[in-house]
Amino acid sequence: MPAIRELEYFRVRPRWLFVKITDEEGRVGWGEASLEGHTQAVEGCLDAYRERILGLDADDIEHIWQMIYRFGFYRGGPVLMSALSGIDIALWDLKARRLGVPIYQLLGGKLRNRIKVYAWIGGDRPGDVEIQAKGRQAQGFKSVKMNGTEDLGWLDSPSALQGCVERLKVVKSLGMDAGIDFHGRVHKPMAKQLAKLLEPHQPMFIEEPLLSEHIEGIKALSQHTSTPIALGERLHSRWDVKPYLESAAVDILQPDVCHVGGISELRRIANMCEAYDVALAPHCPLGPIALAACVQVDASTANFAIQEMSLGIHYNVGEADLTSYTKNPEVWDVKDGYIDLMTGPGLGIEIDEEWVRRVSKDAEPWVSPG
Ligand code: LMR
Ligand code: NA
Repeated sequence: MPAIRELEYFRVRPRWLFVKITDEEGRVGWGEASLEGHTQAVEGCLDAYRERILGLDADDIEHIWQMIYRFGFYRGGPVLMSALSGIDIALWDLKARRLGVPIYQLLGGKLRNRIKVYAWIGGDRPGDVEIQAKGRQAQGFKSVKMNGTEDLGWLDSPSALQGCVERLKVVKSLGMDAGIDFHGRVHKPMAKQLAKLLEPHQPMFIEEPLLSEHIEGIKALSQHTSTPIALGERLHSRWDVKPYLESAAVDILQPDVCHVGGISELRRIANMCEAYDVALAPHCPLGPIALAACVQVDASTANFAIQEMSLGIHYNVGEADLTSYTKNPEVWDVKDGYIDLMTGPGLGIEIDEEWVRRVSKDAEPWVSPG
């Protein structure tokens, strides 16, 4: 029954927030509470939660989850849930390490030995897309995601949609699959046109075809196209997910383990999705702890489809990439479109704490470009 002795957090580049929990016997677990552009808000929340959890039994993950979720009257939303996510992930890591098993063993065991993955390509001109997609192919990827368009007006020129179709055709011609992220940049009058134009070229999915608050519009779109509709990165709990499942508005759910309440809630949402025949494809443009947490759930989830990974995403520069801050970055090697399931204890990655402490001292909080 080890009690929680300390909760620390570390800002690291490019835009991540790592959480470390230590128990009274000196065992540690790592979590990630990154909330892009809102680092200080989450840090404030973690300061408050620290007071609540010190001295509690580190094994009581569900008790701590419920206590944090319920206390203080207000529930949910990106800030509170990201802080809770960091704590939840760290507690799962700590517990599984204490027992000497990967987290997926505590989630019922593995259903697969390798995890299908995709990564971003960033360029906006067809020429750039071809070069970048070939680069991903050389790294071992078979699937990518790209932005659909720049910001569009409510009623823009239909010609503004053509570039997106051309880019999808280029990637498909290389024998790769591509998801198209509308990224909240497209409004309903243009979204239904873009969905129709993309459909013959079979994108893997269209993501956030409208912002997720427009549930009735998304439902209408999903009835209007055969392309799978994906969303979920801006939903923050099982209660947020519920109306999308009940109204059959979504085909692929993309919860973000850092914003949805950690491994505990991602797992619950995965199971809810299974009951509606909806696939799980966790959103993860974030750091190695977040990705390792997703992989633990992916491995033990029947309706898992594909995992996003941030290797070389446009936000990651220099010494701040998915492979940074860990002693075993080879776990992220991609072969034939898959990574091998990590089988080490806890999250299966080994954080380089000395590196994290050194670089976090002068890391500025990341500011969103738009
Ligand atoms: C994604 O789906 O990965 C994007 O939302 C990432 C981002 O932060 O632009
Ligand atoms: Na997205």
